[in-house]
Parts: sequence; C-alpha cells; structure tokens
Amino acid sequence: MDIASRPSEPVADTQLADAPPPPAAPQVIRREDYQAPAWLVPEIALDFRLGLSATHVIARLSVTRNPAGNGTPTLRLNGDQIAALAVRVDGEAVNDWRMDGPDLLIDLTGDAHAIEVETALNPAANSQLMGLYASNGMLCTQCEAEGFRRITFFPDRPDVLSTYSVRMSGDKALFPVLLSNGNCTETGEGPDGSHWAQWHDPWPKPCYLFALVAGDLVANHAQFTTMNGRAVDLNIWTRAEDKDRTGHAMASLINSMKWDEEAFGREYDLDLFNVVAVSDFNMGAMENKGLNVFNTRYVLADPETATDGDYDAVEGVIGHEYFHNWSGNRITCRDWFQLSLKEGFTVLRDQLFSAAMGSEAVKRIEDVRVLRGAQFPEDSGPLAHPIRPDSYQEISNFYTATVYNKGAEVIRMMRTMAGAETFRKGTDLYFDRHDGEAATCEDFVRAIEDGTGLDLGQFRLWYGQAGTPQVTVELRHEDGAAVLELAQQVPATPGQPDKQPMPIPLRLALFDRATATHRVEELVVLDQARQTVRFDGWAEPPVLSINRGFSAPVQIEAQRDPADLVFLAAHDDDPFARYEAMQSLVVGHLVGIVGGRLDAAAQDRGRAAIGEAFGAILADDALDDLMRGELMILPSETYLAEQLLVADPLAIHAQREALKAWLGREHGAALEALHDRVRAVPYGRDAAARGARKLKTQALIYLASADAVGTAPRARAQYDAADNMTDRQGALMVLCGLDVPERAAALDDFHTRYAGNALVIDKWFSLQAGSLHKDVLEHVKALANHPDFTMSNPNRVRALYMAMAVNPKAFHAAGGEGYRIIGEVIRKLDPINPQTAARFVPSLGRWRRVDAARGALMVEELKAIAAEPTLSRDVREQVTKSLG
Ligand code: PHE
Ligand code: ZN
Repeated sequence: MDIASRPSEPVADTQLADAPPPPAAPQVIRREDYQAPAWLVPEIALDFRLGLSATHVIARLSVTRNPAGNGTPTLRLNGDQIAALAVRVDGEAVNDWRMDGPDLLIDLTGDAHAIEVETALNPAANSQLMGLYASNGMLCTQCEAEGFRRITFFPDRPDVLSTYSVRMSGDKALFPVLLSNGNCTETGEGPDGSHWAQWHDPWPKPCYLFALVAGDLVANHAQFTTMNGRAVDLNIWTRAEDKDRTGHAMASLINSMKWDEEAFGREYDLDLFNVVAVSDFNMGAMENKGLNVFNTRYVLADPETATDGDYDAVEGVIGHEYFHNWSGNRITCRDWFQLSLKEGFTVLRDQLFSAAMGSEAVKRIEDVRVLRGAQFPEDSGPLAHPIRPDSYQEISNFYTATVYNKGAEVIRMMRTMAGAETFRKGTDLYFDRHDGEAATCEDFVRAIEDGTGLDLGQFRLWYGQAGTPQVTVELRHEDGAAVLELAQQVPATPGQPDKQPMPIPLRLALFDRATATHRVEELVVLDQARQTVRFDGWAEPPVLSINRGFSAPVQIEAQRDPADLVFLAAHDDDPFARYEAMQSLVVGHLVGIVGGRLDAAAQDRGRAAIGEAFGAILADDALDDLMRGELMILPSETYLAEQLLVADPLAIHAQREALKAWLGREHGAALEALHDRVRAVPYGRDAAARGARKLKTQALIYLASADAVGTAPRARAQYDAADNMTDRQGALMVLCGLDVPERAAALDDFHTRYAGNALVIDKWFSLQAGSLHKDVLEHVKALANHPDFTMSNPNRVRALYMAMAVNPKAFHAAGGEGYRIIGEVIRKLDPINPQTAARFVPSLGRWRRVDAARGALMVEELKAIAAEPTLSRDVREQVTKSLG
C-alpha cells in the first residue's frame, strides 16, 4: 500500500507523550572529545514479556564506577523515545532520578549498585526498524548503532561491555521460537498458552550486539566441527515456506568458518550459531553475537529465484557477518569514530574469502567497480569524510562506502606492502593483543606495525585525510632507460583544504612490445609529492602497466597512447590491469568526446581502437568466460562523470549508448555466435556455466543496443528458455529498456510467475526503474501506485527508488522530474524510516558536479527538504552538508 493512502502512524505511540522538541542547533559529536565511561555495567539481566504491540521490559544492571572514568556520581542511561515506568536502585523504588532530554540520570552514592528500569514498547508501531520491531508477525531487534536505547535505558556506547542474561516469555502459538545471544540455558511453559526461554551469553559485549528474535520460524540445521574439534550447531531460521532456499547460505556459513580458521587462525567461540532472515531490514545484515539477523535478500537463494550475483552476495554477506565474530565482536570499537576498525577490516576479510571461493581476478574487478561507483563519488562530494571521521551528527549516516570499502582498501594496502604472510603476523598480534577490548584504529595500525615490522607513520594519513588521491604518471624514454615520473595530489574536501602526500603503493610492470611479456615487476611506494623512478636496460620504450591489481585506491592520470592500451588489454598478465586497460581506453574516448577534446578523426581512431580490443576479447580462446564477461563491461556513467569536473549526465549517457550500439553493430555476427554458443551450456553452479550465463546477457545488451527490434525476439527466447533467474532477469532487463511489444508481455509474465515472492517482486520493480526505456519516469510514477508497492518495506522502497536514483537517464531527466521524485520520497519516508530516507540524499548532493541548470534544480529540491518543519537528525545532517 502506498503510504499516502493510509493514515500515518505514530512512530511509537505510547512513548512519545512528552518527548521534547528537537534542539534547534544540531549536536555535533567529535572524536577528540572522547572520554572513558564514568560507569561500567559488567552484568545485565533482561526480562521481556513479549507482545507484538505491547512488550514489557525489565532491565537489571549491575553498575560499577569506572576507575578510569571522571568520577562523577551521576549515572547517565541513554534513551530514545522510551519512558521509564519504574526505576529502582538496590531494590528500592526511587524517584530522585531525572530526565535530561531523552536520557535518564541517577545520582549514586557508592561505587557499585543494582539498577532496575522498566519500559514498555510497541514493536508493531516501530517503523524505523531500530530497537525492537515487528516484521511479518515476528519480533526482532536491531541495535547497531544506537538502537538499544530504544529498548531500555542504558549507557549505549560500544566501550561498555556486559555479560547478558536474557529471559523472554510470550504466546507460544505466535512465538514458538525464542532466540537471543549465546546459549539457551532453560525453557519452560507458562500460563495461558505462554512459554519462556532463558539465554546466557558468556562473552561480554557492547549493547549494539544484543539481539532477540521471537517468531514462527523453522531452521535449516547443520553442524560444524572447529579446528580444535568442538561441535557447533548451526541454524538458519526462516519462515517455513523459505526453508528450502537456505542451502547456499548454510554452505557459505560452513565455508566461512573453515576459511577463517585457515586464513586468519580464527575459531568460533560458542556452541551455537544462529542466523535469522527478516524481510524488513534497513541494511544488509547484522553481526549480533551468536545471533546474526539478516535481510532475507542475503539469505535466500535458489536457481529459480536468485541470480549468480545474488548467490555471490549471499556468500559475501554471510561471510562478512560471520567474520565480525572476531573483527567486531571479540574485538569491538571504542567509539563509533572507529567504525572502520571493524567494517573496513571485515570487508577486506569477506573480499579475500569470496576471492578464495571463486575467481580472484573477477572478484577484484567487481570490488573496484563498487569502489569507483559508490566511494569515489562520495570522496569527491559534499559528504566526503575520512575512513575515520572526526565528527558526526547522526552515526547512521557514516555506514558508508568510505568507511567500509575504502576502509578495506586501506588495510589491503598494508597487506600488499607487508606481503600476505607477514601481514598475517600483524593480524595475529592484533587479535591476541586486543581480544576482549574495545579498540581503536590506532591500536590496529600499531599491531600491524609491531607484527609486520612495517613503519606506518606516514601511512596513518590514510585514516585522517579524505579524498581520492590523484596520481599523475609519465613514462619517458631516454638514453636506453625508462624514466617514470610520478606525482600525487590529494584533493581538498570539506573541512580539509590542505593535504599531505600519502604513501601510495603502486604495483607496476614494464612490458616489452616485441615479446608481449614483462621484464620488470615491482612495488613502488610513492610517498612524496613527486618522485622519479629509473629503469635501465630498455633499448626500446616499454609499455607501462601501473596500479596492477588496483594496489592503491587512487585515480591514475596518464596520457596513454590508445595503441598501448590495446596492447595491454590483449596481453597484460595481471587480469585487473587487463580490465583496466580496456576501461581506460573507453574512458579516454568517451570523456574526450563529452569534454569536447577530440576532433572527428581522433574520435574515429579511438573508436577503432576500442573495437579492435573488444573484438580481441570476444575471440581470445585463452580467456575464461567469466573474465571475458568482465572485460566486455563498459565503465559506468557514474565513473565517467567522475572524470569530469562538471558533467552533462545525459551527454555521457548518449555517448556511452552510442558506443555500445556501434560495438553491437561492428561485432554483431561474433556476438550472435557467442550468444548461440553460451545458450547451449546447461545450468550449473560451476565457473564455466556461470561464465556462460554472464556472456548470454552481455551479448544481448550489445545486440539490443544495435538493433532493438531485431534483438527483442532473441531476448524473449532467452527469457522463455530460462531455467534460472540469471538468464531470466538478464533477458527481462534488456527487454525493459526497449520500446517493443515483447516488453510488456515479459513483465506481466514475470509478475504473475513470481507473485508472492517479495525478493523477486523487488527485482520486477528495480528492473523497470533502472531501465533505459524512454518512458522510465512514467513507469516509476505508475509503479508507486502499484498494489505491491509500500513505503514501509525498505527493500521495496530501494527496489523502486534507489534503482531510479542511480539510473542517470531517469534521475537527471530534463526538467528535474527525477529530482522531484527523489525529494518527495525523502520527505515522505523520513517520518517512517529516517535511516533509509537519509540514504537518498547523497544523489541530490552531487549538484556541483552537473551543469548549472540541473544543479539549480537539485538545490531547489534539497532546500524544499530543508524547509520541512520536522526532519530527522539523519536527513537533516545529510541535507545541510549537501547544501553547505
Ligand atoms: N554492522 C552491520 C554490518 O556491516 C551493518 C549494520 C549497521 C546493520 C547498522 C544494521 C545497522 O555487518
Ligand atoms: Zn560489517
């Protein structure tokens, strides 16, 4: 149901009664203001009487004065939209507690006390999906970053670690399964059809890792035996109808557990590991100790309903959350500025895991594509921040590609400089030294230094300086030597006008043109503003391959001869560099055209070079199909726009489409032959079959671009013959972009075929909103009124509107209609789910990087949002910074 057609519900009706108005000036939290907690909570016992619309909570805290704290007698317990029904200190009801805004303060006389607080919650009215909420008839929690304070009053900060005992009781028919962290120690029956369970987690943890789940769920069960022979029970909990789609998640979990033992020496530390799939979830998944809660989209997969990309995402996220058990849970963060300590490191760990499970080369290319598509734009826009931010207003806004993906790249650089084996000594030391602690990024860097022997003094700048470094590269040939001139510049970002040079590890090779092999391969660390490196013994000028494997997350600026790039696209033995050569060839060509820097002759030459390289990729028998598929993908419009200071997004779109169509025409026969070859390959999960599926859709994309009407039947045939979602979605995606009769028929078939399967219906929405069709905005507006659309499910909102916001043709459509649609989504969604609403703001924040007319329309939309009388802290922060 559309939110507009239903009465708006209060966020948490019983709890808002006398919430104070939000403060006028936003509160800024600064990293440098960190203070150790005044009071610690070594133990907490929680008692939940569960109900979908009324849950009663009693929290019993043992609090002790922290000798390292500031000695204040006042205990501050954070709250958020909750009220205390009763407060007891050492068993006595007290009424000299007071509220300070949302927080509850109690003055204490001794050094240790027992505090008891009662709260009442309405999970069914919790549309923010933070704290305790209802989803599909079940109850679940989300506490990171600051959701625990929506359940009970507590020092809600990650450096307060407690041992949790949790009792919950509720209706046995509604909630046959009762889960929390750690182990279940006791269960029993209660009056009136109720039952209860008692859980205990032996590992002290911050409250953001607390979780509770109650519902009618079934488990896919398996066992894992750890490297020390301990048996661990594994359960993946879903609704009954989804159980047979959990096999891949379970296999991925077992693979993760094994891999973490081998690659990082990490063994699981409880007898039980539970994963629960929920359909209403703001993010991907959450690493609660022993009880991971997942967005259904990262758990459920079978060939009929999940693409190969979905399978990979399940594997990656299952791994990611599991790896948090050590990088995040056993060692947590001291404060939220240290978020990249757990997230950057854990992303690196999940990347290495996925690489080990599949194709290392393809995985690296995909990871770089994500970095360039999501993080580079962040780093060059108004919301740029270092991987360890210095301040925030709302921490939810800092779960970003910078903290996660650039954070992973920064740690990967340390690994590259140390070498994988030596790096392992650093991580071993880190895990050993800080086990059980709430640590900082500095702790991590020091452990890596001590364990590896690297000097990371200057390298620490990567934690503090935002912005993607620009590295200019020039290779000269003189006196039988190749002379490499390197220079770096870190661009100014908000609040950081001046930057210092950083150590940039560049893996490079010099190729001999005649033999097409390299004689030199080494790691050069550029750590000054400019540097010259000389390679003797080159009678002829070599071809330079630089930033191989994407050894540093930088932007390389080089005047490359297209012929050299064609050479590398065909011969580079580093698969990433080979991909990169192809990308650079296309980037140089398209950016040159859009920027008006290429005359007609140069355009023809550039296109011919691309055509030659593309043809070689199609024909190269030595390439596996997965890699061939990667090499065929053109750089994204976002990445192309990133190369220009100010870009006309529709000009980029038009030029990229024109090149696609030209390649489709030039290589039409080869692409058809390719499509015929790969569609004969039967379904399998192996790399060859996956490669075949990838090429099937890649071939269609080019053919359809060259000849829509002629290719539509071929796409429809792929759709009809599909025995898996990869082929079916690929064909539908192509058809969606075409103005042909096959389009509507296929969309209708898809909707009917998968009615009731929320994750697949999400695809149906996003394929249309992300399409190349000329009427895409009309389609989006119609879909907003479709009975399957709802503003209260984040997956559905993202399926329609995030797909549209990242579709340049739709978002940047002339007249600003796309901006207005996204602006309205933000305003409508903010009262329902501010965290998800705020995720749409950065797309509008790119206004400085588009032509002035478009920029003005985007600013207008941001101002309209800013003018709303009430805005969440989440949206307020993003909008203010975007306008600033
Ligand atoms: N910590 C989660 C992860 O990266 C992400 C998350 C953040 C989930 C905040 C929910 C809320 O694994
Ligand atoms: Zn994470």
